[in-house]
Amino acid sequence: AVERTLSIIKPDATRRNLTGKINARFEEAGLRIVAQKRIRLTKEQAEKFYEVHAERSFFGELVTFMISGPVVVQVLEGEDAVQRNRDIMGATNPANAAAGTIRKDFAESIEANSVHGSDSPENAASEIKFFFSKSEIVP
Ligand code: CMP
Repeated sequence: AVERTLSIIKPDATRRNLTGKINARFEEAGLRIVAQKRIRLTKEQAEKFYEVHAERSFFGELVTFMISGPVVVQVLEGEDAVQRNRDIMGATNPANAAAGTIRKDFAESIEANSVHGSDSPENAASEIKFFFSKSEIVP
């Protein structure tokens, strides 16, 4: 089915000017960028977005990293968009990511792993709502 997923190009990638190269991966895989904005997350936004990880040891560092520079938040649309995007991104830890994935090719570490993507259609819906109003999504 045609789905939408929430993607974030993280500060390690915007710092290295990789937005276009990463967007090309999405488009070449048949995903359409139907909403996109470059923003700086506030500490409060980053904490709220990643609240499921609040008890993890890496939470504080993750929030610090996510507010260390601009991010590009985007909505990707396409057939099986959630899983397709996860396939294109590769494993969370670039050391475990398959050849040809974004994280294998661009990520610096398990934390500075260049991209975030929703892990289920349910989370995609709430993550999209977190950043975008209806009128900002233009299919
Ligand atoms: P993401 O897919 O955005 O979800 C949670 C993020 O936490 C993850 O990508 C990484 O950027 C970061 N992170 C840092 N350390 C770890 C870890 N040990 N395990 C999982 N995620 C981590």
